[in-house]
Amino acid sequence: MADTKRTATLTLDGNTYDLPVLSPTVGPDVLDIRKLYAQADVFTYDPGFTSTAACDSAITYIDGDKGELLYRGYPIEQLADKSHYLEVCYLLLNGELPNKEQMADFEGRITRHTMLHEQIHNFFRGFRRDSHPMATMVGVVGAMSAFYHDSLDINDPWQREVAAMRMIAKLPTIAAMAYKYSIGQPFVYPRNDLDYASNFLHMCFSVPAETYTVQPALAKAMDRIMMLHADHEQNASTSTVRLAGSSGANPFACIAAGIACLWGPAHGGANQACLEMLREIGTVDRIPEFIARAKDKNDPFKLMGFGHRVYKNFDPRAKVMKESADEVLDLLGVHNNPLLQVAKELEQIALHDEYFIAKKLYPNVDFYSGIILEAMGFPTSMFTPIFALSRTVGWISQWKEMISDPAGKIGRPRQLYTGSEGRDYLDVENR
Ligand code: SDX
Repeated sequence: MADTKRTATLTLDGNTYDLPVLSPTVGPDVLDIRKLYAQADVFTYDPGFTSTAACDSAITYIDGDKGELLYRGYPIEQLADKSHYLEVCYLLLNGELPNKEQMADFEGRITRHTMLHEQIHNFFRGFRRDSHPMATMVGVVGAMSAFYHDSLDINDPWQREVAAMRMIAKLPTIAAMAYKYSIGQPFVYPRNDLDYASNFLHMCFSVPAETYTVQPALAKAMDRIMMLHADHEQNASTSTVRLAGSSGANPFACIAAGIACLWGPAHGGANQACLEMLREIGTVDRIPEFIARAKDKNDPFKLMGFGHRVYKNFDPRAKVMKESADEVLDLLGVHNNPLLQVAKELEQIALHDEYFIAKKLYPNVDFYSGIILEAMGFPTSMFTPIFALSRTVGWISQWKEMISDPAGKIGRPRQLYTGSEGRDYLDVENR
């Protein structure tokens, strides 16, 4: 972070305060207000953090106006076209693309961590069969800290590394087990001869009664979906992981907190909500009714999969996802998919509607992903778990960056207090 010696001056009640201006590699400058409260006895106020940088980071950069997303400087379009998920994991964790030896070593380590402690299988049996897989994932990932005691010490770089490997490797296994448990099928163990995405499809869709062969094109589409979801700057769930980590909580507890936050329909739960919305719309002729509802201030309905806090132009991930949707449906011989037709027509109508143009609402990463995942055979309840397992590497990369910052402090925001001033207790007889 370059310190440019520029300052902003705040004038308040006749006093002036100099706020240092810090400049990033790319993107908006930031006003350093760390000393403001001590100097001026005032807080800044920014619920929802629309104008607040909570940290500095070198991992992911988003330019919402240009529709640009960079993982360690590499554009998401190039990575989606040329890379693969585990290579992106290495890049996010280490800051550089791996050479052949580094990639082979990383892939080998991940592959040999995909199995879960056998006793964790019992955990699943404590849940109702109709539990949402996200409920199971929050529970089981949090419980990992009860099993992997040799990777809990956040002050030991080696234990941090092992915890990271374990979570990247085991989240697909946990997600697949949550799915199998919800449909009453036996758990399927991972296989070391399969690549990461193929292994996940294998654990989800194979059954003991017959041989299951992963279609390479579907595995590639799954791998691309994972890449597109891998990290995204300081979104709500990543900020949750950072805040949990700032207290010194163990890495498994921090990731469980991130999964819990991602579940919300305004965040990672939007892919499930979006597909349910497309199903409710049903046919192209009902789109105007839903567009009107989305614009109606008195109706809480929002177009799921639309809008974004940062992207005020297109979401580059949605563009890649839309191309992938066409490819996957074509590969699966699913032509004229009604949901895809509704989605494409809805996008066109919304992009030409004054309301959406004025509010800069465009399809986001969740708009098309559900269509692909449903075509692949996943129920809507598995959409957010797939987002969670894909984002685990981003959460861990951001957690590692925060933990290894020697200047790190516990996150502790203040407030604009609007409650009662101090008052004396009243006995119940006098109330
Ligand atoms: C993800 O942060 C990330 O990076 C998240 C994510 C990641 O990779 O981690 O990209 C993943 O969470 C994508 C977003 C998925 N959520 C949805 O698709 C749910 C629908 N979208 C909205 O809930 C909303 O757009 C948000 C939550 C995504 C963004 O909300 P903001 O930035 O707080 O914006 P806002 O709610 O203040 O909306 C601005 C205006 C409002 O109208 P006014 O009050 O100004 O009159 O736009 C309206 C909103 O009512 N609006 C919508 C809308 N989204 C915003 N109106 C209709 N439909 C929508 N989808």
